[in-house]
Amino acid sequence: MTQDRKTIDPDSRRHAYPDESSRSAQLYRRAHRSIPDGASRSMTLIRPHPIYVASGNGAWVMDVDGHQYLDANNNFTSIILGHADPGVNEAVTERLGKGTAFAMGTEAEIELAELLVERVPSIERIRFCNSGTEAVMGAIKAARAFTGRPMIAKVEGAYHGTYDHAETSLGSSPDTWGNDDAPVSVAYAAGTPRSVAEEVAVLPFNNAAASRSILDRCGDQLAAVLIDTLPSRAGLPDVDVAFLETVFTTARTQGALVIMDEVISLRLGLGGNQGRLGLRPDLTSLGKIIGGGFPVGATGGRADIMDVFASIDGQRAAVPTAGTFSANPVTMVAGFACMNQLTEASFARLEEIGDGIRHGCREVFADHGHDWQITGKGSLFRLHPHRRPIRSYREARLTDGEAKVMAALQRRLLERGVYFSGYGLGCMNLATTDADIAHFVEAVADSLATLD
Ligand SMILES: Cc1ncc(COP(=O)(O)O)c(C=O)c1O
Repeated sequence: MTQDRKTIDPDSRRHAYPDESSRSAQLYRRAHRSIPDGASRSMTLIRPHPIYVASGNGAWVMDVDGHQYLDANNNFTSIILGHADPGVNEAVTERLGKGTAFAMGTEAEIELAELLVERVPSIERIRFCNSGTEAVMGAIKAARAFTGRPMIAKVEGAYHGTYDHAETSLGSSPDTWGNDDAPVSVAYAAGTPRSVAEEVAVLPFNNAAASRSILDRCGDQLAAVLIDTLPSRAGLPDVDVAFLETVFTTARTQGALVIMDEVISLRLGLGGNQGRLGLRPDLTSLGKIIGGGFPVGATGGRADIMDVFASIDGQRAAVPTAGTFSANPVTMVAGFACMNQLTEASFARLEEIGDGIRHGCREVFADHGHDWQITGKGSLFRLHPHRRPIRSYREARLTDGEAKVMAALQRRLLERGVYFSGYGLGCMNLATTDADIAHFVEAVADSLATLD
């Protein structure tokens, strides 16, 4: 079951949510009998019942009840060309006929590696894994092994997947976060050993002076600074050049490495956000779009550092890695078929789509006096139900009341044929048309009118 944008029945976009008699609601009740909370991925849960998808095509998806939605989530930023892209489908279909999993290498792995090494100058060598979480973990382990040091520094509120150290201070709250200039390291998952927080220094995004002192205090214990230059959970704030310069310079003065997390931000340009900002990190973690819609992650960087993954002279590698499905040929051909289609023009169009959404939403807020704002770059944006200037996680973090407003917006948008995240992060794919942008903006305007 797929749908063509031109044949979308406008009636199939409008429906009431929640609907306890819908097939989605029924599936959710059934899921509870075998899966805690009814889903393996908490981010797909929408209360009181999530939406179960039947198919996707281009910029649109259809649920199991036949409702159509403009996809403003794109599997949390992993789809870039559009759903069911013909080029990716052809490559995958051909691969399926030849077998899908072997304890042998494939040429497809080398092809995707070569493409990424060519596109991102700081990536001289690269190794694949199955998720962004693993990619970040691999980069942290590589930095520790290369420097012989235990600590990392990361930005408060920044999401880097679910590896213990990388998720430190992801959910800090005013009760736990401490001073603005010296964020407390707060473990995220219950049961995390106390030593994890002790091994992670937490930086306030865009605060150069405070970050320098925090990094200085780490001294020769610091292996690496892990940084996402457009952190989605910290509100997609614009990054200050002075902050970036401080982080890079201080890390290097101390003999520590810089790991850039481009799991999301690679979708900002051919060379990722490091290309746009003119940065050259030591290591980079990738994921999402490089798998062409299949599970993926990759750690890349300087050749001498990446050698920690190599077994030299028959010795065990300094950082042994495995992964039954790492560099799986289906993912590799899908990733190559996707990434190889992206050109400078693709990124210019993605920017145009994002600008259309940002501009349209700002007009709606101004025309109707809504105290909202929108941040973001390229095809990524985030809606905020307040006007606090956002420079870091502390201003972006939603109060309980604001979180309820965002959840309500998500439900109102569902009723108007837009699939959107529950905390305001939005992402569009290349198949998005100008009519789709207008549909999104109109749905936001209409939804906000019902929330007032
Ligand atoms: C910046 C960033 N890093 C890492 C990850 C983890 O990637 P994955 O979900 O593939 O484990 C994510 C996921 O959203 C992310 O946004």
